[in-house]
Amino acid sequence: MGGRSPAAGWRCALLLLLLTTMAITAAEGRFVVEKNSLRVTSPAALRGVYECAIGNFGMPQYGGTMHGVVVYPKANRKGCMDFGDSGLSFKPKAGGLPVFLLVDRGDCYFTTKGWNAQTAGAAAVLVADDRAEPLITMDTPESAGKEHLENITVPSALVSKRFGDDLKTALENGDMVNVLLDWRESLPHPDERVEYEFWTNSNDECGAKCDMQMNFVRNFRGVAQVLEQRGYTQFAPHYITWYCPEAFILSKQCTSQCINHGRYCAPDPEQDFTTGYDGKDVVVQNLIQICLFKVANESRKPWLWWDYVHDFAIRCPMKEKKYTRDCANGVIKSLGMDIDKINTCVGDPDADEDNPVLKAEQDAQIGHGSRGDVTILPTFVVNNRQYRGKLDKRAVLRAICSGFEETTEPDICLTQDIQTNQCLENNGGCWLDNRNNFTACKDTFRGRVCECPIVNGVQFVGDGYTHCEASGVGRCQINNGGCWKETRNGKAVSACSNEESKGCKCPPGFKGDGIHSCDDIDECKEKLYCQCNGCSCENTWGSYECGCGGSSMLYIREHDTCVSKVANASVGWGFLWVIFFGLGFAGVGAYAVYKYRLRSYMDSEIRAIMAQYMPLENQDTSSHQRTVERADI
Ligand SMILES: *[C@@H]1O[C@H](CO)[C@@H](O)[C@H](O)[C@H]1NC(C)=O
Ligand SMILES: *[C@@H]1O[C@H](CO)[C@@H](O)[C@H](O)[C@H]1NC(C)=O
Ligand SMILES: *[C@@H]1O[C@H](CO)[C@@H](O)[C@H](O)[C@H]1NC(C)=O
Repeated sequence: MGGRSPAAGWRCALLLLLLTTMAITAAEGRFVVEKNSLRVTSPAALRGVYECAIGNFGMPQYGGTMHGVVVYPKANRKGCMDFGDSGLSFKPKAGGLPVFLLVDRGDCYFTTKGWNAQTAGAAAVLVADDRAEPLITMDTPESAGKEHLENITVPSALVSKRFGDDLKTALENGDMVNVLLDWRESLPHPDERVEYEFWTNSNDECGAKCDMQMNFVRNFRGVAQVLEQRGYTQFAPHYITWYCPEAFILSKQCTSQCINHGRYCAPDPEQDFTTGYDGKDVVVQNLIQICLFKVANESRKPWLWWDYVHDFAIRCPMKEKKYTRDCANGVIKSLGMDIDKINTCVGDPDADEDNPVLKAEQDAQIGHGSRGDVTILPTFVVNNRQYRGKLDKRAVLRAICSGFEETTEPDICLTQDIQTNQCLENNGGCWLDNRNNFTACKDTFRGRVCECPIVNGVQFVGDGYTHCEASGVGRCQINNGGCWKETRNGKAVSACSNEESKGCKCPPGFKGDGIHSCDDIDECKEKLYCQCNGCSCENTWGSYECGCGGSSMLYIREHDTCVSKVANASVGWGFLWVIFFGLGFAGVGAYAVYKYRLRSYMDSEIRAIMAQYMPLENQDTSSHQRTVERADI
């Protein structure tokens, strides 16, 4: 056998990685299928409580229940095709119970079945397993078929083959099958505080899944922060890493995907070692995020983690090549956090030693107690049980709320109308003009956003974090557009021009950057003007004075020359006379026209008014039209 190609080598390493992970899993932990219950109320023969597995899409109604009737379609029984194509609708008629559509497993993605059931008007989808086996979790597809993922809102549940068969038999016999889907006991709710974990990843280039995660963080942040600040929840973020098998530690694959000598690895974001960021960049960023949480939690402000993750995704995205430590430090700084403490926690990624923080993360990944191994990313763990369903603000908040002992839920579980008041502290890490009290920080229900403000109708533009400047019409009225200005001897000079939409420029007669300073140009010394023979040049602030030798000479500024006063005068007077007479005639003419127009205008105006009260002798249609036109103004 010859040498193996690098690709084959890598595939082998990947397989080994997988095997090792699975080995740990098999030895110490397990995957737990999260369940809810389904109570059949009729027919009598089927009455009882059954278990079903919550699908990892759609919106399970944690803490709640749903009544419905089961319908098994006559055709398209696997739900892989659009029911609308065959004219089927499961929308209940007025007063009817919601329909839970029963479909068979197989032939297409679970999410496709869910989507088809939802678009046909079903309130929930029950999938009957096609083989006798313990219940499984219906997950979302990794690659294809996720186009509807974010839009599925109906809950989904998998039922066993046996129970599915029983349901079908009852329906075939013409029975009406009434059921109650119940999620009240899907999560433990022992006390007044909910402990929850968010298992996530800093990688932002994984397509729809990453976009969904980012959207979720943006929407959920405000709620998470309020819950944390008021002590209702105790939250912790978590990250999954793998380790490189011993034999491959020095391989190209492991050195580009791992830190700490193969101990902590993440897959390459683009799945291509030659371009973009490597797996190890993702591990380092994940580590920074854990450390940031630790430092924030120590100073009793764990909610800063949400701000960091949110801002980092906006300010340091991979596609703009900003997924770097420098960029991360900028975000940390604007949140007013201690960079040194975080760096100490991150340690040296090249060191051949354990990192205690990442070690603890690897340990936490393995299930314990009622919680199984975390293998689905991103996911929530609420009161030590895994959340199943869509990563959506309302659905997740609902799950968290169902983790409180009944009657101890915070208000936010009943109403969502709250503000976070984050701008009050450190200006929320956003841009601030101290002198004028202009700020880019805005409090919203979703948490604070850093957005350049509009002040007195003038739009500020910039990144909102470190920089904003007035722009467009009227910008010079606001703090002189951030430009230099000075007044001397009653003469005001500014480097801001409303004609320009941005920037500062020293006015004629001055030079400089326009922001901090503009210096007078000495026209005489720099020999720019007034260089005629015998002329006297005197510099002034922003300009100069030029005197021509002798009293018979006059200085013409535009042409920078001296001319004789006498010759100029005769030409000048003749010219002025022409202008004088011209103006006189024009004035008389204009007055005559004005008088005529005024009279005819008043004439027709009076006609129009009178026409409303009495028929006029020579009334025509135009007077009527005139009235309508007036009403428009
Ligand atoms: C999901 O819903 C949104 C808003 O209703 C819509 O804009 C989007 O196109 C939908 N996506 C899919 C894949 O149907
Ligand atoms: C966060 O801090 C609190 C006390 O301030 C502590 O009880 C909790 O365990 C900390 N969380 C983590 C994940 O370290
Ligand atoms: C700045 O503005 C905010 C709200 O616009 C106000 O609450 C605050 O008192 C102001 N601070 C100063 C120093 O004027």
